[in-house]
Amino acid sequence: MNWWLRRPEHRVAVAPSLLAADFTDLRADIAAMDAAGVDLLHLDVMDGHFVPNLTFGPFICAAIRRASGLFLDAHLMITHPQRYLRAFADAGVDAITVHAEADSPLPETVAAIAALGLRRGVSLNPGTPLAAVEPILDQVDLVLVMTVEPGFGGQAFDARGVEKVRRLAELRRQRQAAFAISVDGGINRETAVVCRQAGADILVSGSWFCRHADRREAAAVLRGTDHGAGD
Ligand code: DX5
Ligand code: ZN
Repeated sequence: MNWWLRRPEHRVAVAPSLLAADFTDLRADIAAMDAAGVDLLHLDVMDGHFVPNLTFGPFICAAIRRASGLFLDAHLMITHPQRYLRAFADAGVDAITVHAEADSPLPETVAAIAALGLRRGVSLNPGTPLAAVEPILDQVDLVLVMTVEPGFGGQAFDARGVEKVRRLAELRRQRQAAFAISVDGGINRETAVVCRQAGADILVSGSWFCRHADRREAAAVLRGTDHGAGD
């Protein structure tokens, strides 16, 4: 079974973005996501410099670790990720995803994440070509294709990422590589269909998923395993 799936019958993984979680009752919100059968949690770390927003760091990730046994993917939207890898590893995350656009040499940063025993993720902003990560595709466990400009939830889907997903799926086949293809930003009922068809393995969803009263149904909709449930 692929490492990103919580259950073998999940063909596509659902990863709620905690940016959209209820931070006034985080333990309960995470428990509801867990009960809904999500596959992993997506932690949006922002430094107010790489992106024009400031969220949380290792301290909150450690609290989330205490609240959940789910796989934690720390999406570092920060300029100097190499400075904080150990801190996030000590906080208990399972994967660290760094941006190709950050001020951090990708091969060395990815190797440092591996040296900490964590899954290695790299992310591309909508305007960044795949060429930025192609040379290291055999050294990563996850490629996070941004379908919004990073920094905020609730934005409209940027379809430039769909072709990247298709191309990554093709490159994975050609190179017999094993990385997961994840998409992040504006993922809802409609855009999930497009991303699944392009070959996405993991769907990160914040506002659309967290807005749903019935999260089990929301997860099924994103996986395409609902049966026409209403929105
Ligand atoms: C944006 C974050 C995304 C975002 C997704 O910088 O990386 O994970 O929170 O939120 P929605 O699903 O609302 O676009
Ligand atoms: Zn994210």
